[in-house]
Amino acid sequence: MYNSLKNDKEIFEVLNLETKRQQENLELIASENFVSTAVLEAAGTVLTNKYAEGYPGKRYYGGCEFVDMAEDLARERLKKLFNAEYANVQPHSGSQANMAVLMTFLKPGDKFLGLSLAHGGHLTHGSPVNFSGTLYQAVGYTLNPETKTLEYNLIEDLAKKEKPKLIITGASAYSREWDYSKFRQIADSVGAFLMCDMAHPAGLIAKGFLNNPLEYCDIVTSTTHKTLRGPRGGIILVGKDKENPFGIKTPKGDRIKLMSEVLDGMVMPGIQGGPLMHIIMAKAVAFNEALQDSFKVYAGQVIKNAKALSEKLLKFGFDIVSGGTDNHLLLIDLNNKSVTGKQAEISLGKAGITVNKNMIPFDQRSPFVTSGIRIGTPAATTRGMKENEMALIAELINKTISNFENEKILEEVKAEVKDLCSKFPLYSQLN
Ligand SMILES: Cc1ncc(COP(=O)(O)O)c(C=O)c1O
Repeated sequence: MYNSLKNDKEIFEVLNLETKRQQENLELIASENFVSTAVLEAAGTVLTNKYAEGYPGKRYYGGCEFVDMAEDLARERLKKLFNAEYANVQPHSGSQANMAVLMTFLKPGDKFLGLSLAHGGHLTHGSPVNFSGTLYQAVGYTLNPETKTLEYNLIEDLAKKEKPKLIITGASAYSREWDYSKFRQIADSVGAFLMCDMAHPAGLIAKGFLNNPLEYCDIVTSTTHKTLRGPRGGIILVGKDKENPFGIKTPKGDRIKLMSEVLDGMVMPGIQGGPLMHIIMAKAVAFNEALQDSFKVYAGQVIKNAKALSEKLLKFGFDIVSGGTDNHLLLIDLNNKSVTGKQAEISLGKAGITVNKNMIPFDQRSPFVTSGIRIGTPAATTRGMKENEMALIAELINKTISNFENEKILEEVKAEVKDLCSKFPLYSQLN
């Protein structure tokens, strides 16, 4: 692989450095993963050459008969994975998927509710620096100040006061389960549409380890590159038996046709042009992998690892936001360790452990400093690490944070991390 890249020495050097970084460091960023070599190869195929504006069977370009087959396979596999009635695999990213949905359900100036960014929501759920917070009136719901978990009564009160047209569930940094049935009741009580952005836990939802938003939400978006372990990209789904998700009266048989027309049209030509056919083919490969029983074992282990890591860190006196995790990630409040999120990210980075600083709910510090870090297990689990390794990782994190300014100890941890990673080889065929 990559033989022809050797001619471009500068780029080949970059590729080698990044491959080595991924191999020798411990990747604990909750939103990252390592795709299979099949997904890697699919993403680097000649399908990148093809313009295919439109959808299978209805393209604006000739020569699309084979890329049509790739997109059909991606859509069918994805529908099977989530028991969905409708799937769109064209969004270039999770943000594009969210943009298409917001533009479908809302007019500029309409109001919607989403989990506040400072409490774990995503930029596209209403941040003032994002289109979602400038085109629309975005109101953020927040977590319970004591438990740091979703407080449905508070969300209901807010919905009744604000009367939003849409409510978004899902988050980037929330470690607990979502009760979509409660959100459905709240949305129904104010006549709002209900959306879920399951970008983070999608792979865990697909295998039945977490509640399935498709059963309750009118529309669901996701990225494909986090727990779902596919190439970078976005998707949009509608669950089975969703009556009239747009609130438009249509004969029953026309429902899917209507959804397809409105949603497909909003993705292309609404907000995108030509789809990335090589990535769509890589998505199809990843969805097939996720359909296998082995992916269920993987997804289950991701959760077991997150719980094991959280329990071990608690024993070292770390303050885990909400006391633990139900999914693949945990948030650590570092206030009792006298280190900021920024300092922790830097020192862990020097020790070969990659995490990101993250605001904790009710954080007193700015997003550039923060009082916390977010840690996730999807990538380490892909390497084959299990509970025993999580115990060691907790020790290494503790050693690093307790000595965050001691370069000698950071070097020691780095050597231990490298040794651990060498026991779980990654992409060895690329060396
Ligand atoms: C909940 C959620 N939605 C959407 C996105 C955006 O995905 P992308 O980076 O592909 O635009 C993210 C990315 O981190 C996310 O966490």
